[in-house]
Amino acid sequence: MAASLHFPSASSCPLPTFSRLMSSPLSRAAKSRPFLLAVSSFPNPDPKSAAGPWSRSYAASPDTTAAASVAFPSGRKSLSLGEITRPDFPILNQVVNGSKLVYFDNAATSQKPVALLKALNEYYESCNSNVHRGVHYLSAKATDAYEEARSKVAKFVNAMDRREIVFTRNATEAINLVAYSWGLSNLNTGDEILVTVAEHHSAIVPWQIVAQKTGAVLKFVGLTKEEVPNIDQLKGLLTKNTKLVVVHHVSNVLGSFLPIDEIVVWSHDVGAKVLVDACQSVPHMIVDVQKLDVDFLVASSHKMCGPTGVGFLYGKINLLSSMPPFLGGGEMISDVFEDYSTYAEPPSRFEAGTPAIGEAIGLGATIDYLSSIGMETIHNYEKDLAKYLYYQLSSVPNLHIYGPAPSETVDRAALCSFNVENIHPTDIATFLDEQHGVAIRSGHHCAQPLHRALGVNSSARASLYFYNTKEEVDAFIQALKDTIDFFTSTL
Ligand SMILES: Cc1ncc(COP(=O)(O)O)c(C=O)c1O
Repeated sequence: MAASLHFPSASSCPLPTFSRLMSSPLSRAAKSRPFLLAVSSFPNPDPKSAAGPWSRSYAASPDTTAAASVAFPSGRKSLSLGEITRPDFPILNQVVNGSKLVYFDNAATSQKPVALLKALNEYYESCNSNVHRGVHYLSAKATDAYEEARSKVAKFVNAMDRREIVFTRNATEAINLVAYSWGLSNLNTGDEILVTVAEHHSAIVPWQIVAQKTGAVLKFVGLTKEEVPNIDQLKGLLTKNTKLVVVHHVSNVLGSFLPIDEIVVWSHDVGAKVLVDACQSVPHMIVDVQKLDVDFLVASSHKMCGPTGVGFLYGKINLLSSMPPFLGGGEMISDVFEDYSTYAEPPSRFEAGTPAIGEAIGLGATIDYLSSIGMETIHNYEKDLAKYLYYQLSSVPNLHIYGPAPSETVDRAALCSFNVENIHPTDIATFLDEQHGVAIRSGHHCAQPLHRALGVNSSARASLYFYNTKEEVDAFIQALKDTIDFFTSTL
């Protein structure tokens, strides 16, 4: 079925309504230091070739259950979602070090569609002003647009109430907000915080700090032999002392999914709250906070095609209402006296100072863009891409991919972290970039405890998004084989 999709018509700055809202230990090499590459860079021939259209419509199916490709009549090849959406991302249309850029570092940050660039431009051209403070036209316009962005985020994750969305700088700040506000006022000596060894540092370090301050104990869930967090162990570690469970939804290293709905039921049974790090799920699939019944959930805009500098915390309204402020200053108060202050209701209570107004509005425009494609369409396409990436990579000799193999019952995110016997991942990433224009990540991906549990210090990671294609996976695999040949022939 072919249908027409249109970008949201750039209404990022609505007219003011004046109704103000609220107020394997596989590779020894992976444990060693990288080689110093003696490889010269090719010049970048034409970075300007990135120019693309500012707005367009494309044929795709907004029907979220439909396959993520479009069949044309008369036997023409159908286009994949990657091919359809590619022109929306002009940055991808460039030559890097003599080759067509293949951007496979999306788990670190995603690229930005023209719909966002246009929304940001429009905001700064026509409504830039501070929010919640001014009575003038521009301030009202900016306030309305900013609060509309909050409503869009709330709808996107199906929050019951838009006041449950707090804008933060990123997911890291959102976790720190919960740690310093909820954690410091609810945790006591002997209380337990349960995390998995596969958490991002952002979901570990704030709890170490809070544990040190409160006397609470941080407990870690390990991995199974399939290299996924051991859910049985997690269940077994839940006791009446467990006050908080902090888990990722999708692992940024293993590509595995955790059964959040079950974890929430088990945790609530012992009276523990659940914080979900949804940085790698919200950009790629439908996430429904009410269905999952999570207490807190965090995500970053920049990983979901939105701007940097903004992220959000979802928190159940009764929890947010009971929490003290995280940061003090303007915007978060009700009244300020010389010796004390009273605080605003959530979400303002947690948004001290001038927020990232343009960025939040940009996130709203990005959500319009993602929704116009459909999150289920994106998820279905990426599931297919994930399998293709996994199996193509598995065919490379002496290469180990971390995490589970995809199967009928096991889905993987479209990312693979891997090591190649006797070649340091940073050498792989450097050679791929300098010789083939392929961007992947190497290192510990902010998951050192996980890498230790896997028996390595670092790995290479290729992470894809809906604008990537199987042809790019082929180019990456070819480039990787060339890289391995280079290093094995010089050994
Ligand atoms: C699973 C996960 N959690 C948390 C973060 C932290 O995100 P940010 O740096 O945007 O706060 C990341 C970023 O890589 C991530 O992948």
